[in-house]
Amino acid sequence: MSHKSELIASDINAYLEAQQHKSLLRFITCGSVDDGKSSLIGRLLYESKMIFEDQLAALEADSKKVGTRGGELDFALLVDGLAAEREQGITIDVAYRFFSTEKRKFIVADTPGHEQYTRNMVTGASTADLAVILIDARKGVLTQTRRHSFLVSLLGIRRVVLAVNKMDLARYSQEVFDTILQEYRDFATQIDLKDITAIPISAVYGDNIVEAGSNMPWYRGPTLMHHLETVEVGDELPSKPFRLPVQWVNRPNHEFRGFAGLISSGTVHQGDRIRVLPSGRESKVARIVTADGDLPSAVAGQSVTLTLDSEIDISRGDVIAEGDAPPQVADQFEATVVWMHDDPMLRGRSYLMKIGTRTLTATVAPIKHKINVNTLEQTAAERLELNDIGVCELELDRPIPFDAYREDHTLGGFILIDRMSNNTVGAGLLSFALRRSENVHWQALDVGKKVRSQLKSQKSCVLWLTGLSGAGKSTIANLVEKRLLSMGRHTYLLDGDNVRHGLNKDLGFTAQDRVENIRRVAEVSKLMVDAGLIVLVSFISPFRSERRMARDLLEAGEFLEVFVDTPIAVAEQRDVKGLYKKARRGELKNFTGVDSPYEAPENADIRIDTQVVSPEEAADRIVAHLANAGMLSGA
Ligand code: ADX
Repeated sequence: MSHKSELIASDINAYLEAQQHKSLLRFITCGSVDDGKSSLIGRLLYESKMIFEDQLAALEADSKKVGTRGGELDFALLVDGLAAEREQGITIDVAYRFFSTEKRKFIVADTPGHEQYTRNMVTGASTADLAVILIDARKGVLTQTRRHSFLVSLLGIRRVVLAVNKMDLARYSQEVFDTILQEYRDFATQIDLKDITAIPISAVYGDNIVEAGSNMPWYRGPTLMHHLETVEVGDELPSKPFRLPVQWVNRPNHEFRGFAGLISSGTVHQGDRIRVLPSGRESKVARIVTADGDLPSAVAGQSVTLTLDSEIDISRGDVIAEGDAPPQVADQFEATVVWMHDDPMLRGRSYLMKIGTRTLTATVAPIKHKINVNTLEQTAAERLELNDIGVCELELDRPIPFDAYREDHTLGGFILIDRMSNNTVGAGLLSFALRRSENVHWQALDVGKKVRSQLKSQKSCVLWLTGLSGAGKSTIANLVEKRLLSMGRHTYLLDGDNVRHGLNKDLGFTAQDRVENIRRVAEVSKLMVDAGLIVLVSFISPFRSERRMARDLLEAGEFLEVFVDTPIAVAEQRDVKGLYKKARRGELKNFTGVDSPYEAPENADIRIDTQVVSPEEAADRIVAHLANAGMLSGA
């Protein structure tokens, strides 16, 4: 049943060879079940004859059983594979399907159309060369058509097929088609989509899918399959500036040192002058090595190992680029982020960022606005919720080589990962570097942390006390500080209530304000460690993620987490400030432990159970811990 099946049977090598040399088109279909998306994909698979006979038999049986098309083959059933989906009649995840024709191979990403599945669509679209946007001829351009088109444009897919489906239900009318096309074109210019091919189709009856059919003689353009088979793709990459993000350094022996990776754009020749980023060092390409021998040149999409004609330091994550057109290097950006997780993205929170072959830390600076994906309206935002798209500033912990996403998807596209759970929580596109990151440099100072703390006969560090309000953090911190002072040490105590009267008086108690509160205090404590002090921090600091961030700002051994562990019932009973009562009466919102979460430490360096340990004993234990860790000697 499969096309070329005779070739598979008679000469499998010839068949595979032919498959290998066909070009590949990756595309995404955007639309909802109502638009007939699943039927369309099912029809493409069927017409390409890549459905095997047993699948076809199952399809015939299913069509009879479900009977949505009165005994005819229902192509949607082929695609909506999961039983649960069939019953609900919606497609839930991104499904990638492969099919091929005589001329080309195809990978189609099928994503659900509803707004709550924006993240799925973004995932599916991120590698697509082309998008098929489906419209129901009876309904025309809808809000969701605009949303899908905006996302397609945002992700840099430049080729769009506007498939006006269900023409059979619109009397195959040219007027209907023309009106829809005009409306769509007006909208598309606003979002900079230029390359649009509109095709009137009926997925159910097959009009203009593979064969034109006789129902729409007024239409003279290509059929959908013909267009997909012949549209040019991916041809601009080789002519762009050369980029190779280094995946690994291959050093089998002293003679050979190669830099391996996938060329993300451009072309490289033996002898080309290159520049390595972020260091900026220059060299020349000595050899282009592959498993099949050396090449005189290589282009985007090829995996190669380069050797250079001089010894320069290159590590994983660096980018080897064309000498005269290198990417920029920066550590602060404006970016567009699509949020993909139930826990919101918060200003001030830091995430792991994967970009190219690098992983680093990115902190969310102000969120400039959210984009309403239906109306393209911009609204102010403090956070991004699941499926929100927003424009924000990001600060990285070190400079990276990058290109704007619209120039280069590899060096400008990234994902954000939650550092505690390791879940992918967002995806984004770098727009441009912020000027300030170019113009603010580190000052090299002669006096350092070591000298400052040695002079004080100690090793500077942070004792980070976390726990519920009323747990006893401040009482214990205060005792520890007095003890250290009596031993002649140099300290400072940062206390939540006090810092909130000055540096952080603009902050309240929403999740994003607490994140920012802790970010600032972590930065201040880092400065104080640099000043050579033993810093006591007494903040509720309810989120693991921010305590982790504070730890990561410092060097190993400089951050000691002290969990002042008091059960909420006990803290509430003490209620020294009367705040629990207020919170229970509903007069105080977002109170930790009442209507705002507290994430207890899992591996605190020191845990104080205040029900069995008195504040004095707690202070003794903490000071003893410091002494044991060598913090109270200046050597
Ligand atoms: S944190 O959560 O952002 O780390 P922080 O330690 O700065 O909190 O401040 C907590 C102090 O603010 C508490 O000890 C309490 O006195 C006071 N407070 C006022 N409102 C709240 C609230 N909604 N939740 C917790 N503490 C509050």
